[in-house]
Amino acid sequence: MDAGSVLDSVLAEAPTAIGGAATLEELDRVESDLLGKGSPLGDVRRSMGSLDPADRPLVGEKLNEVTRSVQALLFARRIELEIDDEARRLTEDRIDVTLASHSFPQGSQHLLQQTIDEIVDIFNGLGYVVADGPEAELGWYNFDALNTPPTHPARLESDTLYLDYGDPADEVLLRTQTSPVQARWMETHEPPVYVVVPGKVYRQETTDATHLPVFHQIEGLAVDESIQFSDLKGTLAHFSREFFGPSTSVRLRPDFFPFTEPSADLSVSCFACDGGEPGCRVCGGAGWLEMLGCGMVDPNVLLAVGYDPSQVSGFAFGMGVERMAMVRHGINDIRHFVDNDLRFLSQFR
Ligand code: DAH
Repeated sequence: MDAGSVLDSVLAEAPTAIGGAATLEELDRVESDLLGKGSPLGDVRRSMGSLDPADRPLVGEKLNEVTRSVQALLFARRIELEIDDEARRLTEDRIDVTLASHSFPQGSQHLLQQTIDEIVDIFNGLGYVVADGPEAELGWYNFDALNTPPTHPARLESDTLYLDYGDPADEVLLRTQTSPVQARWMETHEPPVYVVVPGKVYRQETTDATHLPVFHQIEGLAVDESIQFSDLKGTLAHFSREFFGPSTSVRLRPDFFPFTEPSADLSVSCFACDGGEPGCRVCGGAGWLEMLGCGMVDPNVLLAVGYDPSQVSGFAFGMGVERMAMVRHGINDIRHFVDNDLRFLSQFR
C-alpha cells in the first residue's frame, strides 16, 4: 500500500477505534496504536526519506493533516471519558453523612471554672472588674486590715494553715478567704471600687461531704459615694435571679463578720420547690437556700486602707463557688469536684 492509502485508511478507521475506547486506559492504548512508534502513521513518517522527492510535500502535508485529525478525535474522546470518570467516582465514592461517626473525646472546662466564669460574667455586666491577690497571704491582709483582732478564733492554728506563725506582726498563711484582696485593692486604687475576686482559699478542715481544705470563693466589693444597704440587696437580688432563674427571691438575715457592719447572710428561694415542699430534695423543705455572707464595709476597714468613711461607703460579699455549683446542680458531695471522675465531670460540658 502506498503512503496515501495508508493515511486514508488510518483516517477512515480512527473514529471507530477512538469512539470504541470505553475507558481512559483503553484510550491510551488506542492512542499509542494510532500515533506511536510502530503505528502506520509512524511508519509513513519514517519512510518519508525514501519517497520520491516530488511526492514528499504532498505526503508530508497529508501526514500532518491526518495526525492533527487523529489528535483532535483523541482529545475530544479523552474529555468525554474524563467527564464520565468523574461522574462515576462521584457516585461510587459518595459519603453518607448520616452514618454514625466515631466519636473523638473532647475535654471541657471543669464545672468549677464554668461556675466562676458565669458568676464573674454577671458582675462584669454590672461594671465590676476582676481582681486577684496572693494565696500565700500576710496575716495583716487576711485578718488585721479586715478588722479581725489577734484574739479571733479563726486565727488559731487549728483553723488556719500557717506558713509562718507566731509573731502577729509578720504572719504568713494560706489565705482562708478571698476578702484580703478587698484591702489590697483599696490600698492601691482610689474609689469608686467595683471588683470581684475569684480564687482558691485554704482551711484546716477535715474532708467530708461538705468540706474540703482547699476550695474556691468569689469576693465582691463596691465602694463609692453614698452606697447603701439597699444597693447591696438590689445587686445580690439581681445576681441571684441571673444565676438561679428569674423567679428567685432573696432573704437577708442578720449575721456577723468582723469586716462588715451590719452583716447578713443571703438565702435564695428554693428553685426546685419554690418555697416549701416538705422533704424537697434541694432545700430539705426549708424553702430557702443559704448562699453567701455579706454586709456594709466596716468603717475600720476603710480606715485601714486609707479611705475616708465620711466620704465613701460600701458593701461586700463572699460566696463559695463549690456551694453555688452544688446547690444549682443538685450535687450532694463536694468531693466530686476533686475526684476527677469523668462520669461526674462529663455531665457538665
Ligand atoms: N470571707 C467570708 C468567709 O469566708 C465571707 C464573706 C462574708 C465575705 C461577708 C464578705 C462579706 O465580703 O462581706 O466566710
